[in-house]
Amino acid sequence: MSKIALITGASSGIGRALARYHASLGGDVIITARRGEALDALKSELEAAHKVTVTVIPLDLGAAGGAAKLYEAVKATGIRVDYLINNAGFGGHGAFLDRDLTDDLNMIRLNVEALVSLCHLFGKDMVAAGGGKILNVSSTAAHMPGPLQATYFATKAYVSSFSQALAEELKGQGVTVTALEPGYVVTEFAAVADLEGTKLIAQKGATAEAAAKVGYDAMIAGKLTVINDKPLAFMLGWIMPFMPHRMRLNMVRKMQEK
Ligand SMILES: NC(=O)c1ccc[n+]([C@@H]2O[C@H](COP(=O)([O-])OP(=O)(O)OC[C@H]3O[C@@H](n4cnc5c(N)ncnc54)[C@H](OP(=O)(O)O)[C@@H]3O)[C@@H](O)[C@H]2O)c1
Repeated sequence: MSKIALITGASSGIGRALARYHASLGGDVIITARRGEALDALKSELEAAHKVTVTVIPLDLGAAGGAAKLYEAVKATGIRVDYLINNAGFGGHGAFLDRDLTDDLNMIRLNVEALVSLCHLFGKDMVAAGGGKILNVSSTAAHMPGPLQATYFATKAYVSSFSQALAEELKGQGVTVTALEPGYVVTEFAAVADLEGTKLIAQKGATAEAAAKVGYDAMIAGKLTVINDKPLAFMLGWIMPFMPHRMRLNMVRKMQEK
């Protein structure tokens, strides 16, 4: 029987690629983001190409109570979610004290608070139903502090830490939790985060499709974490942990300077 996925941030980038991949495997999908027109276009595309049912829920997940609203909207459809994919998120460049505090607090609300809330709400349902899968889109940023994107990197450290702890707690209850930790992926992310002109995005990024496939397949396999970029995974696992902390901070800062 095909599974039903709920995918946040499905109007562009990795989320849209995840929706396309899931639908190509024959699964129905609930897609959400703020831009309803982009979601409607994706619905038409996927329903025509794969004969699946796509349910659109346009919503600001970063608004106060956004996650609860999404949960209620999903419940109202009567659809049972088998896979929860928490992908919506954004970053923001600049020295912390020069940034608008509201932007950083909104980032924490979307990247952390909404993700935690949805894991709680749908996680309980999954345990009650005897199974389910959660994919949380984190980042390689989870592995280090990120001067000039301090809040963003910290939100992703939270996501990876939280996801792994939850995976352990849910072991034996039929629910798996996977954190996808992508390196740079060419999407709308860099423009939204104001990263144009940094070394970070001068490198050749992965495609959204490639990153989505790596994350989705890892979720199906029930892996704890996965990095889509092998050389970066080696660097993060075998080189960076042995670097002096100040040197590491300086290196990350240089990557993000304009
Ligand atoms: N691209 C990278 O290099 C990279 C690397 C590592 C991790 N990531 C992570 O990957 C995830 C997806 O990012 P992406 O690269 O695909 O970027 P993207 O193309 O900018 O997509 C972000 C998605 O999040 C949605 N979103 C943003 N704010 C929202 C809000 N308030 N309420 C509901 N939805 C909202 C956007 O939709 P609307 O604007 O329509 O609301 C969009 O669908 C993020 O969690 C990001 O941190 C990206």
